[in-house]
Amino acid sequence: MYDIEKIRSDFPILSRQVNGKPLTYLDNGASAQKPKVVIDTITRAYADEYSNVHRGLHYLSNLSTDRYESVRGTVARFLNAAHEDHIIFNSGTTEGINMVAYSWAMPRLEVGDEIILSVMEHHANIVPWHFLRERQGVTLKWVDVAEDGSLDPQTVIDAIGPKTKLVSITHCSNVLGTVVDVKAITQGAHAKGVPVLVDGSQGAVHMPVDVQDIGCDFYAITGHKLYGPSGSGAIYVHPDRMHEMRPFMGGGDMIKDVSKDHITYNDPPMMFEAGTPGIVETIGLGAALTYLMEIGMSNIAEYEAGLRDYAIQRFKALNWLNIQGQATGKSAIFSFTLQGAAHPHDISTILDKKGVAVRAGHHCAGPLMDHLGVTATCRASFGLYNTKTDVDTLVDALELANELFA
Ligand code: ALA
Repeated sequence: MYDIEKIRSDFPILSRQVNGKPLTYLDNGASAQKPKVVIDTITRAYADEYSNVHRGLHYLSNLSTDRYESVRGTVARFLNAAHEDHIIFNSGTTEGINMVAYSWAMPRLEVGDEIILSVMEHHANIVPWHFLRERQGVTLKWVDVAEDGSLDPQTVIDAIGPKTKLVSITHCSNVLGTVVDVKAITQGAHAKGVPVLVDGSQGAVHMPVDVQDIGCDFYAITGHKLYGPSGSGAIYVHPDRMHEMRPFMGGGDMIKDVSKDHITYNDPPMMFEAGTPGIVETIGLGAALTYLMEIGMSNIAEYEAGLRDYAIQRFKALNWLNIQGQATGKSAIFSFTLQGAAHPHDISTILDKKGVAVRAGHHCAGPLMDHLGVTATCRASFGLYNTKTDVDTLVDALELANELFA
């Protein structure tokens, strides 16, 4: 059973007030709140168990290394990777995708080669590929979404041509909530010999992920959206791709031997983890993923689908509310504008007065904003601890905003 009261009580911040109102936190797409087990794990790691990892032979260094390295297995279980060595730690999805751009794509792609992206990618899955366009003459090939915000996998597969070297695609749009059939895309892309990177920044938060079932080459996640610490993250890399990658950051820990005229790299995945890592952030990520697996990602997906359906039902009565993205099976992420001239920033300020936290702006999705013909939207993004009462509070606050701006 999904014990929502127990889950809510796990998150200390949910009991605070904002602007004299109970907090209704609907900005999970930007960053999620942290359960006590994550906060306590971080505190313990610093208060009682802290040292650098992989470097010392003393007790605390060994303890810290054990705590840190055990998270590799936790991430592997969370993503159902075949082996923990297929997991590279990083600071989040942005670093993960940049690593693929520098370590895998840059040494391989040439002038005229293509990378396929959808128009609903986040800037983290756009800008690293623009670097390759600017620096190496790579072409970015864009696939549109349909009117309802859905993405037909076949349109992506059809876009793959002889020059395509990578498909890089979101699992779930941070703006529309559209869930992409990344398995079908991967099967179609692989049939044409093209690897696939999945930006799992939002997707891994809302549904179970099985990288072996998807079959993708890269799957990037970010800790702070997964109820873990900011500055934590990981990327799954298929071993075939891992062996094609060259390290792009050099420093301690990624190296076995260094002399004046020679270096020997460490084995993967450590070859791609230069410098002192986010030790405690990663340990906190492990606590967050363990927490999620204890609740069960399928249970979370089912619960959030109920919230989504309830929100859709309540929004239907608001004929002045324009919801962007109506794809079937979408996640509980709703971008909207109000009819009339109200700017999303002003709407979000009104909502904030009622204790409702949403994000307003372009959501780091410039090409999608252009595609939708808007400069900004408000976005309410639900998480595992939200309730139907939160939907009602949002609707009440929107009604107030609509009255004020009508
Ligand atoms: N990627 C985050 C968002 O969608 C910051 O808000």
